[in-house]
This record gives sequence, C-alpha cells and structure tokens, in this order.
Amino acid sequence: MLAGIHFMQQTKSIKDIDLSNARVLIRVDFNVPMDKDFNISDDTRIREALPTINHCIDSNAACITLISHLGRPKGRDSKFSLQHILKRLERLLGRSVLFAESIERARDLQKNKGAIILLENIRFYEGEEKNSDTFSQNLATLCDIYVNDAFGTSHRAHASTYGIAKFTQQKVAGILLKKEIDSFAKALNNPIKPMLLIIGGSKVSSKLALLYNILQVVDKVIIGGAMSNTFLKALGYNMQKSLIEDALIEDAKKILNLAKEKGTKIYLPVDVIATTSLDSNRHIKTIPAQDVPEGYMAVDIGPASTRLFNQVIRDSNTIIWNGPLGIYEEPQFSRGTFSIAHAISDTYAFSLIGGGDTADAVDKAGERDNMSFISTGGGASLELLEGKILPAFEVLDKKE
Ligand code: 3PG
Repeated sequence: MLAGIHFMQQTKSIKDIDLSNARVLIRVDFNVPMDKDFNISDDTRIREALPTINHCIDSNAACITLISHLGRPKGRDSKFSLQHILKRLERLLGRSVLFAESIERARDLQKNKGAIILLENIRFYEGEEKNSDTFSQNLATLCDIYVNDAFGTSHRAHASTYGIAKFTQQKVAGILLKKEIDSFAKALNNPIKPMLLIIGGSKVSSKLALLYNILQVVDKVIIGGAMSNTFLKALGYNMQKSLIEDALIEDAKKILNLAKEKGTKIYLPVDVIATTSLDSNRHIKTIPAQDVPEGYMAVDIGPASTRLFNQVIRDSNTIIWNGPLGIYEEPQFSRGTFSIAHAISDTYAFSLIGGGDTADAVDKAGERDNMSFISTGGGASLELLEGKILPAFEVLDKKE
C-alpha cells in the first residue's frame, strides 16, 4: 500500500507547470447532494474545487473548461443537468460561468478570452463510462492542459478521468487531488503511533479488502455499525434480528485471528441499542451485546461501548475513520456515531475522515471544522485504503 501511495504522490501538479495562454480543462467532481427541488444540501465539493479554478485564473489561462458528472443518469435526463449547480458555482467563484450543452458549444465558447465554461453532465455521453477512445479523443480537443481535480471520482476509469490522458500532452493533478493524496500519505506513510482505525457502516463485504490491508499498518481497530454484528456473531453471540452477513462469518473469524497474530487490538461493541423495528411503532432497549432479546436488532453502539471507544480514541495519535457506528440518520440511533465524532474532535490526533456517509455524520454532529482532514471521496477513499492505485492518478504525468 505504501509504495502505491508514494507513486500517487509523485504526480505532477498544476503548480509545477506554466498555464499562461493555455486552454485548461479541469475534471472536477460536482456530484453534490440535492433535494427534490434541486436545492444543494452540501456544496463542499464545489468549494473544494475553487483553489484550482482560481489558480488557473491567476495564472492567465486562456480559458477554463469544467467537466463533471452528476448522479448516475441513464442517457440525457434534465433531472441530472449541471444547470442545477451553475448558480451556486457562480456565487462561490464570484464570476460568471458560461454553460455549454455540448462539446461543440464548449469549443465555440472557448473563443471568449478568459472564459470559464461549464460543460453539461459528462455522463450524458455514452462514451464516458465506457471509457471510449473516440469520445476521450473528442474531449481532449477541448484542451492544451488537462487537470484532474475530481478526487471523488478518481477510482473510476472513465473517459474524463482516465481515457482522455492518452490524447493530452500535459496532464496534471489539481490542488484538491494533491491535498487528498498528501493527507492519506500523512496518515498512512509515517503515522504518529498509536494509530487507530474506526470502521463502521452496514456491510463487512464492502470493507473486507480494507480490513485485510490496513491490519498491516494500524495498532488498534474499533469496529461498529451493522458490520460489527457479523463479528459479534463470529464470537458466538446470538444477534437475533440484527443485520448479519452469514457468508462472511468465516472472514470475520479470520480477521480476528490475523489481528491477534499481529498484535493489533480489535474493539467490538460491549453493549448496543436494539429495537424491534425501524418504523415509528417500536420498542428500544440498551443491552449487553451478548443479550440481544428475541425479535430485536442492534442499531447503534450503547453507552458502555461509547465510553470504551472514547478512551481508545483519547489514547491514539493518528485516527482514520470510515463508516458510521449506527443508523445516524435517525436521531434516536445517532448518539454512538456523534459521540465518536465529538471524541475525535477533543483529541490532538491527526484525524482523517473518509468521505460519503462518514463526512456527512461528522457534519451532522457539528464537528466538521474540528477534524484534521475530511476526504471528498467516499468510494475513492475506500479504494485507497484498500491499497489500490487509483486510475486517475495512474495516467497523470509524474515529477521527473
Ligand atoms: C461519488 O459521489 O462517490 C463520486 O462522485 C463518484 O460517483 P459514482 O459512484 O456515481 O461514480
């Protein structure tokens, strides 16, 4: 894993090259959450792209063309149009941005000196997710310099994140892409010990590769969320109606044994909040993890687990957190996850928070500003922690 991160850190950045009078194409990730009326509920990803855009403006780029996806549209569907984010982008940038419905239109608009252009959702094009050569080549005609600043999409080998590089002379990382990889490197390459991984979420299956990989580097692991039910069942507890992945019980045992061999401490919940149902008509109990009553399911860590975990957090100097410890979207089952966020914010540890749900939970706990680094990539940060070299980094120029 460490060699992979070192390789990705060698990527040339936008700050290493001359941008003056160049047509710069920036692949950003403006895939932001929106409600049904298209109100953006979290514009972090747009804000995080601003330093790169501003750097291009300050460096006298001839024009800047922004490309992004939004959601997972099947063909051209106005619900997924990037028109929905245009106003917010203009407000945050303090500049007007020209909107191009097509690549041809973007090429036309590039004739305006100093223009900032936003191309319509790149996933409206069939060639994007297929990483088609023809499409990649067509996209590449929009630039002299290709910049990737879409860390959230850096685990996808699509035309705009991967294929385009084959047809571009200069291809470099944006400021966000660089910041992300440097933060992961700080946490993983030379961590101040003891190093703690907090892992949660619903499925062991989605975190299996990460667990096997990271046991090599961490000193302690806290496992919570529904995935801890499978580990508790592996210890012989009857978890009753709780979400369990029976097919992964053997893997859970293997991970527990591997950790023992390596001297890595694993902490599981000692008590849980359990309920009979997730609808409003439900009973809720706080009970020891080995005593879940018939008809109940574990949905959050209990107060004793919270105290235990908080102690482990206080004793750590580097903390990586990926996945909530309960159903934090429901106020009654959010206490465990939020108390972990508060405990991390009270430490002086270097804290690296995975994107997606974990970032959202930290935000809802009101602790966004108290973490050392919050990644903008959910799937991307997960794959990075699995030890993969992310495709977007693979194709960018490296420093000599
Ligand atoms: C994300 O939100 O994780 C990224 O924007 C990638 O989106 P995708 O999972 O649809 O490729």
